This record gives sequence, structure tokens and C-alpha cells, in this order.
Amino acid sequence: KIHLKDYRPFEFIVDHVDLVFDIRDDHTRVTSKLKMKKDPARANETTPLVLNKGTFDIISVVAGDMVLLPGEYKSDDEIFSLVATPDIFELEITNILKPDENTALEGLYRSGSILCTQCEAQGFRNITPYPDRPDVMAPFSCTIVADKTRYPVLLSNGNLVKSGDLDNNRHFAVWEDPFKKPCYLFALVAGDLDVLEDRFTTASGRDVALKIYSEKENIDRCSHAMTSLKQAMAWDEKRFGREYDLDLYQIVAINDFNAGAMENKGLNIFNAKYVLADPQTATDDDFMGIQGVIAHEYFHNWTGNRITLKNWFQLSLKEGLTVFRDQEFSSDMNSRPVQRISDVKKLMAAQFPEDSGPMVHPVRPDAYIKMDNFYTMTVYEKGAEVIRMIYQLLGQALFRTGMDLYFEKFDGMAVTLEDFVGVMAKVSGRNLDQFFRWYTQSGTPAVSMTRQYDENTKSMSLTFTQATSPDRNQSEKKPFHIPVRIALINRAGETVKQDALYELTQETDTFKFENVPADIYPSVFREFTAPVRLTTDFSDQDLAFLMARDTDPFNQWHAAQTLFVNEIKNLVTAIQAGNPMAVSAGLVNAFSLALEENQKDRAFLSRALALPQETEIKDHFEIIDVEAIHQARTFLKQTLAQKLTSEFKTVYELCRSANSDDISGGAMADRSLKNLCLSYLGSLANNDVQDIVQKQFEHAGNMTDEFAAFKILSHMNADVRDKACPAFYDKWQARTLVIDKWFSVQAQSSLEDTLDQVKKLTTHKDFTMANPNKVRALIFAFAMNNPMHFHRVDGQGYEFTAERILMLDKINPQTAARLCSCFNLWKRYDENRQAMMKKQLETMAEQKELSRNLYEIVSRALE
Ligand code: ARG
Ligand code: ZN
Repeated sequence: KIHLKDYRPFEFIVDHVDLVFDIRDDHTRVTSKLKMKKDPARANETTPLVLNKGTFDIISVVAGDMVLLPGEYKSDDEIFSLVATPDIFELEITNILKPDENTALEGLYRSGSILCTQCEAQGFRNITPYPDRPDVMAPFSCTIVADKTRYPVLLSNGNLVKSGDLDNNRHFAVWEDPFKKPCYLFALVAGDLDVLEDRFTTASGRDVALKIYSEKENIDRCSHAMTSLKQAMAWDEKRFGREYDLDLYQIVAINDFNAGAMENKGLNIFNAKYVLADPQTATDDDFMGIQGVIAHEYFHNWTGNRITLKNWFQLSLKEGLTVFRDQEFSSDMNSRPVQRISDVKKLMAAQFPEDSGPMVHPVRPDAYIKMDNFYTMTVYEKGAEVIRMIYQLLGQALFRTGMDLYFEKFDGMAVTLEDFVGVMAKVSGRNLDQFFRWYTQSGTPAVSMTRQYDENTKSMSLTFTQATSPDRNQSEKKPFHIPVRIALINRAGETVKQDALYELTQETDTFKFENVPADIYPSVFREFTAPVRLTTDFSDQDLAFLMARDTDPFNQWHAAQTLFVNEIKNLVTAIQAGNPMAVSAGLVNAFSLALEENQKDRAFLSRALALPQETEIKDHFEIIDVEAIHQARTFLKQTLAQKLTSEFKTVYELCRSANSDDISGGAMADRSLKNLCLSYLGSLANNDVQDIVQKQFEHAGNMTDEFAAFKILSHMNADVRDKACPAFYDKWQARTLVIDKWFSVQAQSSLEDTLDQVKKLTTHKDFTMANPNKVRALIFAFAMNNPMHFHRVDGQGYEFTAERILMLDKINPQTAARLCSCFNLWKRYDENRQAMMKKQLETMAEQKELSRNLYEIVSRALE
């Protein structure tokens, strides 16, 4: 286990790295020449040189001009070391890699006909022995030699400085990256790729060549990614004054990838899912996802690459900050309120639960076994919220001043979260010491707000109380510094007191508003000012008012969600008590009024009127009653659909005019509201609505509409599903990313025999455990997004998933460990389910050869 408190700087400085990759049919030979010197501060010490190393074999070692014999260095599966070194020396190590056997997809591996790399967090050590840590930065050069027919395209970081032909149909390319970088940003790609080219001129006049590479058959699906890249480059100049710094920016789309994408200097490697799109095969959500991820990786060039991390504990320094930047970018490109809603929804649906389970950790974790397990919602999404709070506290202008200073002061360095918060404190003159607890103290603060009105002085007081539950990280929590944006709204929906920022710093804070009428509404935590669980003294009537009249669209959405959750909670109570279910008239009325406003912002409305998913609802219960939640939500959805059938049909028709291949915001908004209406109607599953859904499924002109209809059909009944699935498959079998959707729809079906279907699909010719996208489409979708079937009362959902996790652990430990988090909340279920989930975790724990990745997740869950 690695602890933050044990951090020590590396004893040596790497002045230059020169790599040669000689790619052969059944192996790749890597030669690395390191120019190194002892840290001058240690000049007279005898310091052993210890490099990280993977499980490959070493062929030769040359130190200076001495060939070292195997006895003269130490090498095992984790470490390469030399007992003593001169103060300045060169080290040349040659080793053999087998990329075809690398199913973990870390280091150098094969994806189809392409060879590529993934080094973050600690994959570079699987390529060559090296100080594999982010605070060792060096300029790299990289020579690639390969067969010209199999690998016509040879790419690495930086600039191409030389290339040419060799004997035996081989050729080479030499790349040089002038910027010092940590090895996790190294990348290499070799393959038979096509390229989409464009150009961008930076504000200061640098002409940058933009190149997006993909397999030949996909190159005509790269243009949205290219547009997004140019948008991101222009935006970073305008909003943060950041220009691109090389003459070339390259992106490669890869089918087998553990994560979404990787920001390697000048050579981003992407999961194909976040590059390839056209309206026929990608949904509007896919288009938005591509825009966001392309921008995210581009923004890393400054927040991550130019300024990097002192150690992996600081991961949120680059990820939280870069997520904040990509969220702001997407808000500026699209609808700000809708972006905010979807970001917060994601946080609540996935980060809040992380905080309530065994993986709870501060935004800056204190310890890890495998760093890859800490690429979490807490580090990324909560980390972005922490940056957003600083942004709120300082205001846009000072925040920008702080960012400018951060770039100026730390360019080319490996730094810490203290360095970042330090510049923000400096430019604002504010003390951010208490604020820094957001990085060191884990858990979601629960904040309650109550109103007190004093008739005599005509003043309204708002009292906020915060509390954070103790957990494995801290047995006692100190109060957080929490910004709260508040406005006051009157009965007519007018703003009586403009939005202003308040700050909570104690367990209890009270703010008093003088000279206000009694029937005033506070709108608090506007735009979700802080990542807290909020409870208020608002009645359902108050919430219905806020849903209709709050002047902050985010709070309107939040009020609607709270109303839905309250209603579902009541229904669950009724189910558990054996009482009849009933939906309150007030809710139906509020819903219907909102639906009438369909000429306004349709994108917003489609979010506001969407019921929370079962996985989101469960977070509001201490003990999760899977069946009751499913039944309650279904009942609420069907009741709304029944009572408002004609309204849904009207709005459905009103929103149908969008051109099928138009991906403008307006067209997307129309589709999202239309498909929300369809989903409500579809829940009724009668012949009339089945007809409408079927028609849309058969005649849709784009994937958004086709997929929306397909999803609804997959829940209707087995006959309907069994017709829709082969039809969809036959149409799209050539498009692997669409087939992923086909798998995931079936895995998430609510129909009785879903587990059997999923098991059957694991033997489908298009399914493989070796491809993370396929595993995510089928197994993750089942285990994470189909609570009714994963939590089957006979335990078969657990058994199936655990088997798959163990199978996957032998192939791809990173992804296996991620999948295993479906068991994290086992203590929150009924005794029977608890016992069954625990048993699966114990079975996994007993395996002899568990990866360290999976071991960490399983052992934390059982602790
Ligand atoms: N840095 C990449 C990104 O967020 C993600 C790398 C994921 N690596 C991992 N080991 N999970 O843009
Ligand atoms: Zn990132």
C-alpha cells in the first residue's frame, strides 16, 4: 500500500529519454537510452538506482560503455536496480515485449491490427524499466521501426523529425517531443490507419496541423470530433488565454480501451466511442459525449501536461480541474442549465453512493494499492465541484487571475493541490485553509435548511446545519467551508432579493433577510453551489411552486426531482405496508402544468420531467428495497402516462418536426422532449402506444429516435423484444459501436428472463470479454443498471456477475476491479441479499491469484 505521507522525491534526474521500438510479427524489441544524473543535493551519497519494471525479460544492459552481466544489476517482475552509479551516466536497456499477449491493455498492446499504448497511471513500466512516477519529467525521442505494409502509419509524441524506408519492406519514423513530460504521457501508435486532416491557427499565429486517425472504414465518421477539437482550441484561448504549443495535434481512435480517452502529449488515444459519430449510428448523447471528451483531453495539455502532478495522490489537480474546464466548455457551447443538470445528476447518481460505500475517499486520497482504482467519481466529478466552489468564492475575474498565475508560476513543473489552492488564496487575499478540507476530508456533507419568519421585524432567517458522517478516513469530521448562493422569490415568481453568495463555515450558520413578506421563497444552493445532500423544510406544495417558478432552472429541476423522490418514498411505504398505491393529485397537476410550457426550453423540460432512475432513487433509502422501488417508480410513471396520455401525445407530435440529421441544439432539444413523452406513453404498453413506438423504431431517420424506441420495446413484452432485437441487429451488425447499444439494451431490460438473455449473449459471436466496451455494454449494464435483475432474490444475478468478474480478472484486472464495485453497497440491502452478496465477495477474496486491482476493491468491501 502506498501512502501520501511516505512521498520522497526521486534521487536522480532524467535529462533525456531515447526510445527505439523495433516492431516484429511476434514481439517488439524496446531499447531505452536514459541520460541521467544524481540529484546534485545527493552528489556524495551512494544511492542505488531503482527503476520500476514490468514482467518482461531484459536482453541487455549497458551502463556508460560497460556491458553489464546479469549479476551486476538486479531485475525481477517489479524492479530493476543498480547498486551504485556515478554522478552522471547513461543507461541503455533492451527488452522484449509481447504486445499480442497483453490483454490488460496497459503498456504496449494490440487492438485489432493496431499497436498502441496506454501508460497512465503506471503502464510505462510495462514498456521499459523507468522511474515510473509523474514528478520525473524529461524530453523524449522515439524511433519506431516496422513493416511498411502492416504498419504504414507510425506515430509518437511531439514532432516527426525523420522517416524513411529500410530493407525488407520495413520503414522507420523518428519523433521528438521538445516538452519535458512524465512517462505516463508517452504514447506510440502503429497501424494501417486513415487520417482526417484540418488546421487551426492559434491566437498568436501558430499554424497547427490537426489529424484524426481511425480504421479506414470509419474515417468518414470523424468530422464531429474534428469540429469539437477546433471549438475546444478556440475556447481555451478565449476563456483561459491558453494556446496550443506544438505544430501538430493528433488523435487516434482505438476499439480496445480501458477508459474514455488519454491526453498523451500531442498524441491523444481515444476509445473509438468518443470519436466516431454520424446521426445514423450515434445518439445525441453520443455527440455531446464526444464534444466533451475531445475537449477534456485537449484541455489537459495545460492542466495535466504542461503542469503535472507531484504524485498520484494529486490526481484531482489535473482531473477535477480539467473536468471543471470541460463542463464550462460544454455549457458555453450548448445550454448552461441543461449541462449543469446533467453534471449534477451524474454526481448524485454515482459520486454520492461512492461516498456511502467502502470506496469512500477524500478528493485527495491518502493511500492506494492500485492507483487505477482511484480514477473515481470522487476524484473527477467531486473534484470538479471543488474547483467550481473556488470559482464561486472568487468570482470569474479573480478565478481567471488565479489561473493565469498558476500557469505562469508552475509551467513545466510537477505540483500539488496546495500549490493550486495557494495561488487562488494569493490572488484573492482569502484564507482557504478551511476550504482545503474538501480535499482531505471524505464524505458528502448533509446540509439542512430551515426557515424562521419573524412577524414583528418582518424578517426571514435561514438556518443551515451541516453534518458529515464519520467513515474509514476520519472518525470525526470538521465543518466544511460551503458556499451557498441564495435569492428570494415572491409568490408571483419575481426575484425580491437578487442572487448573492453566502458562506457556511460552522456546524450551524444563520442568515437573516430583513423587510421581506412572510410568503417569500428562498432559492438556495442555486446552480448547486456545493456538493452536499440538501434537506429543507419545504412542503410538497412549496416544491411544486419552486418547480414552476424558481428563477434558477437548476433549482427548478432539483425541486421536481425532490418531489418525485418524495412521491416514490410514499409509494414505497405503501407497498411495504401492503396498502394500495396512489399518486398525489398535486404532483400530477404540477407535472401537467410543466408539460404545457413545452414551447419554452424543451431540452430543460425533458430533464425536469424525467423521473430519477432506480439507481438514483436508491440513494434516498437507508435500506434499499429493490422490488418496492421498481414497483413504485413504474407505478408513478404509468399513472402519469395514464392521466396525461393526450398531453403526452400532443407534445410528442409538436416535437416531431426536427430534421433527422440535424444536430443543432434546437433539434436535439425537440428529440429529447419527444422521446421523453414516448417513454412515458410506452410504459403503458397497450396496443395503441405500441404502434406509435413501433413506427418510430421502423422509420426513425437517426439513431437517437431509433434507439429511444428500441429501448422502450425492450421492456414491453418478450414477443415485442424478440422481434425488435433481431431487426436492430440485422440492420447494424457491421457497426460495432451500435452493437454495443444492442447488448446494453438487452442487459437493461426489465423483462422476466433478462438474466437468461444476458447469459446467452455472452456466447454471441460479437461478444468478447477481451473488449472493455463489450464488457461494459453487457455485463456492466446488467450489474450496474438493472437493479431488479442483478439483485434477483435467488442470488443468480450476483453469482453470474461474480463469475464474470473473476473471469475478467485474468484478462483485464483494471476493468474487473471496476466491475466489482457493483457489490460495494452490499450492506445497504436486506439480510438475505446482504448474505448472498457478501458470499460472492468472500468467494472472490479466497481466490489464489487475484490481481492487486481486484484485491483492493474486494478487501475494502469486506472490511
Ligand atoms: N487521464 C485520462 C483522462 O481522464 C484517463 C486515464 C485513465 N486511466 C486509468 N488508469 N483509469 O482523461
Ligand atoms: Zn482527464
